[in-house]
Amino acid sequence: MPKITIAIDGFSSTGKSTVAKQLASNLGYVYVDSGAMYRAVTLYALNKGLIEEDDFNKEALIYQLEQIHLSFVFNEELGYAEIQLNRQNVEKEIRTLRVSSFVSQVAAVPEVRKKLVAIQKKLGEHKGVVMDGRDIGTVVFPNAELKLFMTASAEKRAERRYKELKERGDDITFEAVLKNVTERDHIDTTRKDSPLIKAKDAIEIDNSNLSLEEQYQKILQLAKMTIEGLE
Ligand code: CDP
Repeated sequence: MPKITIAIDGFSSTGKSTVAKQLASNLGYVYVDSGAMYRAVTLYALNKGLIEEDDFNKEALIYQLEQIHLSFVFNEELGYAEIQLNRQNVEKEIRTLRVSSFVSQVAAVPEVRKKLVAIQKKLGEHKGVVMDGRDIGTVVFPNAELKLFMTASAEKRAERRYKELKERGDDITFEAVLKNVTERDHIDTTRKDSPLIKAKDAIEIDNSNLSLEEQYQKILQLAKMTIEGLE
């Protein structure tokens, strides 16, 4: 069976990573969470004091980019790879609202994007990969055989993210999550370098009213049809 590349882009908290993991596991593909990479660079900047309150020392981060080593290590129990920042598993730390508050500013820095996009292209060079993010179908894998663009209303997305963070035990309000989701949408869609836009050949999926299972079945069918079309 031929292997394809599946690019999943879309707004924050649209369930991209959930469906990407399900697809990768069903097809025996590698799942790559590109957002986790931007989040890990943001965590590095926060830990090094390069971001304080509203002050982001971009130049210092660019200068230190070579010292940031990112890798993915497969977790047998979970069935997918987890991200490491300088050989430390940072999966939990990168998902906080604090990291979410600054990640879009960090992701707008062209030097950061250049470094991460190069790693992402390498991870997908042998196909058989499902990658989710903001510029996967437009910049990282413009030739991907299947491109999806996920959307849902801001309220629905904030509800989902709020529930997720609460379940983890984070002390946050729904309003703060909604504000973060809309602010990130704004920065991600208006930045100069690789803004979040739907690739011409991407299939748009609005999952505001789809259950996770309905969404998964719909996308799995699209993937199978794409693979069969190549056989
Ligand atoms: O919160 P959510 O899971 O939707 O976002 P994420 O996929 O973890 O990505 C976090 C942030 O990283 C986004 O809001 C973007 O600013 C940035 N990002 C990006 O610029 N390009 C990507 N390919 C992936 C993420």
